[in-house]
Amino acid sequence: MRIFIILLFLIIFSSSYANSSTQLAEVAIIPKPFSVVSGKGSFALTDKSKICAVSHNIEVNKIGSLLRNKLRPATGFMLPLIETADQKGTGNIYLVLSQSSISALGDEGYQLTITPDRIEVLANKSAGLFNGIQTLRQLFSDKIEALTHQSDSWIIPAGVIRDFPEYAYRGFMLDVARHFFSVADVKHYIDLASMYKMNVFHIHLSDDQGWRIEIKKWPELTATGSKSQVGGGKAGFYTQEQFRDIVQYAASRNITVIPEIDLPGHTTAMLASYAQLNCDNKARDLYTGTEVGFSTVCTSKESTYSFIEDVLKEISAMTPGAYLHIGGDESHVTKIEDYIPFVNRMQVIVAKLGKHVIGWDEIALSDLKPNSFVQYWGKAENAVLGVQKGAKVIMSPAMYAYLDMKYDSLTTFGLNWAGYLDVQKSYDWIPESIVPGIKRENILGVEAPIWTESISTMKNIEYMAFPRIIGIAEVGWCSSSRRTWSEYKLRLAKQGDRLKVLGVNYYPSKQIAW
Ligand code: ACM
Repeated sequence: MRIFIILLFLIIFSSSYANSSTQLAEVAIIPKPFSVVSGKGSFALTDKSKICAVSHNIEVNKIGSLLRNKLRPATGFMLPLIETADQKGTGNIYLVLSQSSISALGDEGYQLTITPDRIEVLANKSAGLFNGIQTLRQLFSDKIEALTHQSDSWIIPAGVIRDFPEYAYRGFMLDVARHFFSVADVKHYIDLASMYKMNVFHIHLSDDQGWRIEIKKWPELTATGSKSQVGGGKAGFYTQEQFRDIVQYAASRNITVIPEIDLPGHTTAMLASYAQLNCDNKARDLYTGTEVGFSTVCTSKESTYSFIEDVLKEISAMTPGAYLHIGGDESHVTKIEDYIPFVNRMQVIVAKLGKHVIGWDEIALSDLKPNSFVQYWGKAENAVLGVQKGAKVIMSPAMYAYLDMKYDSLTTFGLNWAGYLDVQKSYDWIPESIVPGIKRENILGVEAPIWTESISTMKNIEYMAFPRIIGIAEVGWCSSSRRTWSEYKLRLAKQGDRLKVLGVNYYPSKQIAW
């Protein structure tokens, strides 16, 4: 009998212990944090827990309500958000903004301290608090992501996470020109990318196949230019109000929107909308194919520049970020002697608007202004030239970072001109060592573009982006010396169930033991 009681005790003890025996350092977090130190015991979120904004600051309150909105549905807890100066209560989550906390955390870093009594997220800036709560989400069981009440316990092992990014620019791009995506789709994609601490959303707003943003001074851009997309069908555009809404939605998730108007090539939708943008004054037909490199605005007309200035002025006014992307890629029918002065003028116009230029790597052929950025996608020698001219580079090498590349020969949509891009390949590259002549200090960050010639639904965007975008997020966040594929793939495997709860249509790559 005594043995039986002891055994029973052991069974009960060991099962409850098993429940909370995971050490903090064993929890799979992506992107991998800078440091994780396990503590003793665990924290339990309960129906008595509160979210406490310790700093009197509207940004902290916004992050607090974002956290509450994420945790409330699955837990069923009210999690009231309160402003408080004291941190004496137990069972609560404290959000603390302190300019003088820990300088190593920088603008986007955070310290997450979990004890059996409380959780504290500490940061210098609200961006750090946002990143801290993304990590916090991953510490709860996958069911935390559910939109309906789940019966689970919400226990997190104790310890301290100190974390900050390697690169300041961690971007993802969506081509809404080849196929149009609704505001709801765009927000959904932004929300998913923000989970992994991406902080730049580059939106490719114009191309041969469509113009996607309302410009009040030049209404035909949308009245005509938005009516096409690849393969025909119903296309569309964002009103200025909708675009501002996207910008604000992204900002609340620590994401800066970078709008791109692709110039001087990739411009058939503009050339169809306004005849005067063509050197022969003849409007082009709308285009629904997938060729590239056959269009150019007329670079020799002064009116072209005032038109573009009008457009960029309205777009600049809608985007608080420091950058405007002017494209500049694949302008094969613009003579090089016209292309260079054109890109030079674009830089003057953008500087007048108080912004910096980003352009695809071809813009390195122009006279780069200080603070113009080169986005490496195709030609390494262009990117090196940009560096030699003093520019910093955004790394989007097509063969590693283009998420519209097929995973393998069996992928039913996507392209393969840069090769197949499996999950390992998209993770297992080092931004500072893939191009000789481009070093760590020359790199602003990384970006994962997704082009949509062959992709027309958000479910298919999810399939191409996930899980590769998660890997690119880690490439941007975590220094290359601290990451390996063999260790990463184990952490990625554990994201599968979380993505399932979120309803994300990820590609179940055989490289991962999901
Ligand atoms: C590009 O892929 N043409 C930038």
